[in-house]
Amino acid sequence: MVTEAGEQPPRHCHLGDVEVTVGQRNQDGGDARRYLRDQNAGMGDARWDPVANQFVHHYTQLYGQIRTHVLHDHLTEHLPPAPAEIVDIGGGAGHQSIPLASAGYQVTIVDPSAVMLAEAALRLDAEPDEVAARVELVEADGEQAPVLLGEGRFDSVLCHGVIMYLDDPSPLLAALCASARPGGIVSIVTKNRRTMAMRPGLDGDWSATLAAFDAERQVNGLGIDTRGDDLDELTDELRTHGVDQIAWYGVRLFSEQWARDRPAGDPIDEVLAVELEASRRDPYRQLSRLFHLVGRRR
Ligand SMILES: C[S@@+](CC[C@H](N)C(=O)[O-])C[C@H]1O[C@@H](n2cnc3c(N)ncnc32)[C@H](O)[C@@H]1O
Repeated sequence: MVTEAGEQPPRHCHLGDVEVTVGQRNQDGGDARRYLRDQNAGMGDARWDPVANQFVHHYTQLYGQIRTHVLHDHLTEHLPPAPAEIVDIGGGAGHQSIPLASAGYQVTIVDPSAVMLAEAALRLDAEPDEVAARVELVEADGEQAPVLLGEGRFDSVLCHGVIMYLDDPSPLLAALCASARPGGIVSIVTKNRRTMAMRPGLDGDWSATLAAFDAERQVNGLGIDTRGDDLDELTDELRTHGVDQIAWYGVRLFSEQWARDRPAGDPIDEVLAVELEASRRDPYRQLSRLFHLVGRRR
C-alpha cells in the first residue's frame, strides 16, 4: 500500500466534498510528491490488482510499447503546450503520462488500484526530482474526479484502456467530460467492438471468429472479460456531455496477433513507424484492435 507517508504522517483534509488522506514524501529535502486517497472510494476494480504486474510487464515488450508510442504521437498533435494540466484517469502505473511529465506537463494520475499506483510511484522514483514533483497520485474512482479535483479544471483528460473494463461506462464518461475545461481535450482509448472477429480470425479459430462478429465482449490477453465500444456511439455519448470529436485513430493492427512474449527481433523503429502510419489512415485504422478518440470540450 502506497501511503507515501515518508517522514511526515498522513493527514486528513477535504478536497471538494470529499475527505482525503494526504501523504507526502520528501525526496532529499526537495519537493514533496503528493499522494491523495479518497476515503469514500470503493475497493477499486477487484479484477485488476491480481493482473497489475502482468499488465505492467507487457510494457517491457515491443507489443506493449506500440500502444504508448502511437498514443504519444497522436497526443502531441492535440495537447496544448506544457506546462498544461493533464489528468490521467485510470492512469495505472503512468506509462502514458509520466513521459508527459518529463516533457514538462503537470500530471495527476487517478486510479482506484493501490497496486497500480505503487507501480507508478516506483517508476517516479527512477525519474529526476523535478519530474516526480510534477506528478500527483490520487487513489480514487475516476467517477469521483470532478468532485475531488474540480470541475472544468484540466487542459487535457486522458482515459486509456479503462472503459472496456466497466460494464456501464456512462458515469465515468460523464466525469471525464466534466473534468475538462472549456476548450480542453478529452482522449479516450477503448476496444473496437467492430473488429472483435480479428483476433480469433488471425489465430485461425474459426468457430470463435464466427461468434465474434456480433460479440460485444471478449476475454482479453489478461484473461479478463472486456467490453467493446462503437466509435459512433461513443462519439454521440460524449457529445451529450459537451465534448465534440476532433480526431480518431486506430491502435495496434499488424502486431495484434503477436504472442505477448515475442522477442523483439523486429527492427523496433520500423514496427513503431508502421503501426503509427496504420493508426492514421483508412482502411487500416478501422481494422485496429483499439481506437483512440480525441474530443474537445465546448
Ligand atoms: C489496462 S489498465 C490501463 C492503465 C493506463 N491507462 C495505461 O494505459 O497504461 C486499466 C486501469 O483502469 C483502472 N480502473 C478500473 N476501474 C476504474 C475506474 N472506475 N476509474 C478509474 N480507473 C479505473 C485500473 O485500476 C487500471 O489501473
